[in-house]
Amino acid sequence: MTTTVRTLTRRQVDRGVRDAMARVYLAGYGDPALAESRLDADNFATSTLRRHSRRTGFRLVVAVTDGTVSGFGYGFTGGSGQFWSDWLTGAAPDDIVSTWVGDHFELVDLVVHPDHRGQGISGLLHDHLVEGLPQEKALLATTPDEGPAARLYAGRGWQVLVPEIDGAKALYGLDLRAEALR
Ligand SMILES: CC(C)(COP(=O)(O)OP(=O)(O)OC[C@H]1O[C@@H](n2cnc3c(N)ncnc32)[C@H](O)[C@@H]1OP(=O)(O)O)[C@@H](O)C(=O)NCCC(=O)NCCS
Repeated sequence: MTTTVRTLTRRQVDRGVRDAMARVYLAGYGDPALAESRLDADNFATSTLRRHSRRTGFRLVVAVTDGTVSGFGYGFTGGSGQFWSDWLTGAAPDDIVSTWVGDHFELVDLVVHPDHRGQGISGLLHDHLVEGLPQEKALLATTPDEGPAARLYAGRGWQVLVPEIDGAKALYGLDLRAEALR
């Protein structure tokens, strides 16, 4: 199997791309047999993604394996006035907020279709997504267990900043300036 990763601009996120991303989102997070999951994936593609794609610093990477979209990752520049940044400002310790929150790259999502997992595609997506980012810091939230997401981020320089920030999720940070020097 051959996988290539493409970086798309906001204008390239057309109906076909949104539909392909919705399919990955549905298979990755939901149960395609359930109407609720299908609604959730549709809402992601038609509402959340559209809203996020208008934000400053939006960057989207899409993995294509043998002609099929097998995964994607995206983010944008986070800052005050946005829901997650404002929420973090209240939820994280002051020293973390002052060092990390604001003008950071917010890695919103990175997901690989279950049919294509375990082949290193998330690593390809990650590396394309963060390469050459203009921000100094990047942030994300995910579960800090022994699973593939934690393995992925731990192996790529991300550190746990706050072990429990949102239920079972931890806040992770990546120093992009240090990464650029590696
Ligand atoms: C997390 C996710 C993107 C990983 O995708 P993937 O392409 O299968 O991952 P990779 O094959 O690149 O493997 C990533 C790391 O996890 C490890 N890994 C893969 N499958 C694993 C498993 N079932 N259990 C534990 N570790 C696993 C790999 O060995 C690799 O670690 P390494 O770099 O130390 O070798 C995928 O599982 C997914 O889409 N999950 C749902 C969405 C999600 O949770 N996203 C992250 C939050 S933003």
